[in-house]
Amino acid sequence: MKEVLIAPSILSADFAKLGEECAAMEKAGADQLHIDVMDGHFVPNISYGAPIMKSLRKVNKMFFDTHLMISHPIDYVEDFVKSGADRITFHLECEDDTMEVIEKIKSLGALPAIAIKPGTPFEKVVPYLPFIEMVLVMTVEPGFGGQSFMADMMPKVKALREIIEKEQLSVNIQVDGGIDKNTIGFAAEAGANIFVAGSALFKQEDYDKAVEELRAAAN
Ligand code: DX5
Ligand code: ZN
Repeated sequence: MKEVLIAPSILSADFAKLGEECAAMEKAGADQLHIDVMDGHFVPNISYGAPIMKSLRKVNKMFFDTHLMISHPIDYVEDFVKSGADRITFHLECEDDTMEVIEKIKSLGALPAIAIKPGTPFEKVVPYLPFIEMVLVMTVEPGFGGQSFMADMMPKVKALREIIEKEQLSVNIQVDGGIDKNTIGFAAEAGANIFVAGSALFKQEDYDKAVEELRAAAN
């Protein structure tokens, strides 16, 4: 089993003090910063874009995990990599050619990853597993923080983990949406190893404790 990694989603942070919020998560021992980008078209919400990441990059050394919930990732990949993204996750359901987006991310030196929405069967992402570093199985409909975890996504995680093991691929499985100390165990048991959490981290009083509790529950 791969190492457990905790990725706080800054969507739930206090944007008026974003730098301090992220520094506090780094100090709390979180592993990757999850940066949710929404275009108001692929999802019914708008969040923030590359300039925010660029500013954060200057003050934070963490691994930047970029989740693009946008219709045309191909047009923005370069912006995000230049602004400091370490990994770029785009949606299989977007309007661009999957292999083209993967190749573009790789050519710019970032790690490519594919996300699937709750309604997308896991089989659709299988052909791309040899070319990506991570697959993100959404455990809520993308667009908003604070929604309830969809336990019925766990068979998809399990099936993907089995294929990854069988084919001896080096692919991480991430889950995103409704992850907290009560749900993270189900996702870990199914085979996920990177856990995104917004509300369960940034909406807590004590970040050190919140990160530690999530990590303990995943193990
Ligand atoms: C939802 C985003 C998530 C979101 C998770 O579209 O992709 O990353 O911030 O928030 P919680 O952990 O509160 O469900
Ligand atoms: Zn996300």
